[in-house]
Parts: sequence; structure tokens; C-alpha cells
Amino acid sequence: MTLKSGEANQRFNNAGVAGIIASPFCLSPVTMRDAESSSTDRPLPCIGRHTLPNRVILAPMAGVTDRPFRQLCRELGAGLVVSEMVIADSKLWHTRKSRQRLVHRGEPGPRSVQIAGGDPQMLAEAARLNAEAGAEIIDINMGCPAKKVCNKAAGSALLRDERLVAEILDAVVAAVEIPVTLKIRTGWCDQTRNAERVARLAEDAGIAALAVHGRTREQRYQGEAEYDTIAAVKQQVSIPVFANGDVTTPQRAADVLAYTGADAVMIGRGAQGNPWLFREIEHFLRTGETLAPPSAEEIATTMRRHLQALHEHYGDYLGVRVARKHVGWYLATRDPGREWRARFNRLEQVKQQFDFLHELFRGDFAAIGNGTHAA
Ligand SMILES: Cc1cc2nc3c(=O)[nH]c(=O)nc-3n(C[C@H](O)[C@H](O)[C@H](O)COP(=O)(O)O)c2cc1C
Repeated sequence: MTLKSGEANQRFNNAGVAGIIASPFCLSPVTMRDAESSSTDRPLPCIGRHTLPNRVILAPMAGVTDRPFRQLCRELGAGLVVSEMVIADSKLWHTRKSRQRLVHRGEPGPRSVQIAGGDPQMLAEAARLNAEAGAEIIDINMGCPAKKVCNKAAGSALLRDERLVAEILDAVVAAVEIPVTLKIRTGWCDQTRNAERVARLAEDAGIAALAVHGRTREQRYQGEAEYDTIAAVKQQVSIPVFANGDVTTPQRAADVLAYTGADAVMIGRGAQGNPWLFREIEHFLRTGETLAPPSAEEIATTMRRHLQALHEHYGDYLGVRVARKHVGWYLATRDPGREWRARFNRLEQVKQQFDFLHELFRGDFAAIGNGTHAA
């Protein structure tokens, strides 16, 4: 099947959005085979005792899916949000960055915390400590392209060693009572796409759900995500499978779900500066209708609340700096002009940042436009 919808073919220019994407990723037509069943015919995915309210999940993104952003995405329709990864070695948890990432208590459930590392026992211990600290789901990172964490192979580098993968999965599942999920890529490189075998290992080990990013580790974030491997993985296992990679519109989400048979889509970069995407996808999947984009008033209110939450979470100094990234994404996806971004990045004070938003949305909201995305 070829995706023909205007939305699927629409170029979604996310250049520089993640700070790690070298070139714009675009949604050009993709060849797909016919879907056998509509996603809405299937029951909603369950992770252990947690039934997700819908099929739209926020992907873990280090430096992005902090508590304020998770909260926002949840409010705007994400059925599950996954924290930034926490390094498995608990000896490193005293750093400010780690401490901030470990705060989950009081967040609405289910709280999914991602751990990263390459040592089975260390990962097991990290899972146990996070469960004690309030995590309700542990997610293991085998998808991140970073080669090493603490001098050990970690993230997607683990996919090259299936024995170690199995040891890690067994150790972590045995360490906690709560469900454990796994996030992988399709393999290390084109020649070694082993996602199907890893998926079977995961199911055998008692992993409760599996997210697959449709790229190999070698691809990093280049090229387009492919969904054939995700469809093949779905055929191999009976645990829920989440399709990840380049889902940036409701139509694309529906097409990917139909094509892969996956139980949910997982969204990363598409949510940066556009947390409304979750409710738009949820609505489209449920009704087949396109939800109106957020009004300029709603964008303004959301950005203000997000800014405030960042200042509160990180404190003034760091909050001002973290806000630059998020506000940059809001502006990039709604393009009021580059000079606005450059100006925001120069601001050093909390009050200056709020004054900036006031100016941006003053009067008839001319600067930001009304729910329009940059092409
Ligand atoms: C800034 C950034 C940070 C990321 N950090 C993580 C991470 O900590 N753990 C992880 O498993 N994946 C991480 N990823 C990968 C995403 O979860 C996701 O698999 C990838 O971005 C593809 O999905 P997308 O096309 O919807 O962005 C990160 C991606 C980005 C852009």
C-alpha cells in the first residue's frame, strides 16, 4: 500500500529540532503492504495490570521528556509517557541531572522509567531502586545510539550480543514485581537486523511490551524509518508492540498502526514543540476525523504553563536554559520568524522569558499565527 494522504506526504521540517538531527526528516510516500485489520478493532494495549487509555505513547528522550514535558503530553492525550533514561550505575545518581531525572513520585500513573546500561546486575539493581522510588513500569533502553554508558556497551549497541540481551532481560524481570518493557531498534546495521529474534527473547524473558524504532543503530536518525521489520516483529510475539519512528501526523499514525499491526505508536521528535499531537492522533484514531489545531490562545497558555513548570522543576538558572530548547521548538514548528528564536536564546532572566511570550502573543497573536505549522 502506498501512503497517498496529503498529510503523509507533507514535509515536516524538523531540522535541528532535536539538536541531533543532521538533516530535515521528511515523510515522503512510503510503500506499504495492505493492512489486515484496523487498529480500532483490537483491544487497547496492556502493560502488566496497566491498560493504556489509547494507542499514543510519548517516547523517552534524554534532555526532553523531563517531568514538566511528560506532564504536559499526558494532559494533552498521551496514553503513556516514558521518562528520560536513567544510567543504571546508582553510584552516579548523586549528580544534579540524575537526581532531577529520578523524581517520579506524585506523577500520575502509570509511571514508566527508562534505565540504560550494559551490566545485567547493575540494571537489575537500578530497576529495583526505581521501583522503590515509585516507578510502575521499568523500560530497558536498547534503542539509544550512544555506544557506551559507563564504559560498557549500552543502548542499541547491546543488540549485537543476543546472549547479553537475554541475561539483562532475565535479570531485570527477576528483580522487580512491576512490568518491564523493552525499547529496541531494528538491529545494529542493515546486515544484522535481528529485531525479530530479540523480540522472541524478550517475550520468553517475560517482557511485558516492546517498542521498536524502525531504524538500525547504524542509521542513527538518518533516512526514513521502515515499518516492515516492525510488522514482522508483531507477527513473532503476542506481547504488545509499539511502532516508533517518524510518526508526526494523525494520518501517519493510523497508517503505521494499520500497516504494522502494532498496538500503539510511540512519538518522539514529532512532539517537540507540538504536544497537541497526542490528542490530535487519539481523536483521529477514535473518530476518523481531524481535530482542529490549537488556537493561538491555547498555544499561549500552554507555553506559559510549560515555561513556569520548567522554572519550578529546574530552578531559575537551569530552567531559563532548558526553556530555550522547548520554546525554540514551539517557535520552529509555528514559525513566527527566526529572529524571535534568536532573541529568546539571549534572555537570561525568568521575567524576561515571560515578557517575551507576552510580546509574542500580544494583540491579535500576529507573531505566532493561528495553529499553523512551518512547512
Ligand atoms: C533528543 C532525543 C533524545 C533521545 N533519548 C532517548 C533515550 O533516552 N532513550 C531511548 O530509548 N531513546 C531515546 N531517543 C530515541 C527516541 O525515543 C525515538 O526512538 C526516536 O527519536 C525515533 O522516534 P521519532 O521519529 O518519533 O523521534 C531520543 C531521541 C531524541 C531525538
